[in-house]
Amino acid sequence: MTRIIRKAILPAGGLGTRFLPATKASPKEMLPIVDKPMIQYAIEEAQACGIEEFIIITGKHKRAIEDHFDSAFKLEESLKKSGKKILLEEISRLNQLNFAYIRQREALGLGHALSCAGPFVKEEPFAVLLSDDIIEPGDHLLRDMIDLYKELTSPILALEKVPLSEVHKYGVVNGEKLRDNVYRINGLVEKPSPSHAPSDMAIIGRYILTADIFPVLEDVEPGKGGEIQLTDALSGLLKKRPIYGYLFTGKRYDAGDKIGYLKATVDFALKNPQVSVQFKEYLLDIAARLKHT
Ligand code: UTP
Repeated sequence: MTRIIRKAILPAGGLGTRFLPATKASPKEMLPIVDKPMIQYAIEEAQACGIEEFIIITGKHKRAIEDHFDSAFKLEESLKKSGKKILLEEISRLNQLNFAYIRQREALGLGHALSCAGPFVKEEPFAVLLSDDIIEPGDHLLRDMIDLYKELTSPILALEKVPLSEVHKYGVVNGEKLRDNVYRINGLVEKPSPSHAPSDMAIIGRYILTADIFPVLEDVEPGKGGEIQLTDALSGLLKKRPIYGYLFTGKRYDAGDKIGYLKATVDFALKNPQVSVQFKEYLLDIAARLKHT
């Protein structure tokens, strides 16, 4: 069977200011959740959907991302010699994937980051994954979105219901429900105030997009925060073709934010076979201590 979505773009050119000083000279996307960098969770999520070509948008101080996905011949040899099979499996799992890197010269916004990949995508549809949104691996969000794309053949945005007090952090849509979890988008607003939000359905970091977004991105003026916003380009695209939303009801961690990052770390550690038992004991101990404070 031919794969409809073969490429994924991972914008990673942002400044990561919410994690300063850690991100002063190191990429936010390389911050580990237990023992794996955030961006690898997104790559593995896409790989599980049959995607093998990755375009990563990088920027200043992001070289560690390229090094991480490079082959590591000497390390693999050494692990082989010392019989560390599981670790060897772990670090060679992504070897068959293809990576290309494009440098965003200035962090001018998510829309701008995406536009940098335009010349390399041609006509095919592609996935976009923001690696600081970590999706619970068993929840198959991207796979469901790809299935929906096969049916509707128009852009699909991942949506999540958020409290009204949080809509100012997201692009928010006005959508007409077509069936369970599937919406036709009628309008989009970037980071609205609660009183101006068209709904409580926020766009989260997974998209299936079509190549006609690129000419629209070329014409987008700086919007909220002075950045070239993808939401504004999607509003422009909506005048030309339908856009759909897939309402995600599984578990997402906003790991671009300190509290979301900490929650992801705790939950993933509790599921990690090497540390789960000891870590759970430690948490129970803390919980008991907190009860008495
Ligand atoms: P964020 O809104 O989380 O921005 O970007 P940020 O710069 O990474 O972090 P803060 O807000 O300063 O703490 C969402 C995604 O878009 C990418 C980021 O790397 C992240 O994956 N992005 C953002 C770019 O690639 N380029 C940009 O100019 C802005």
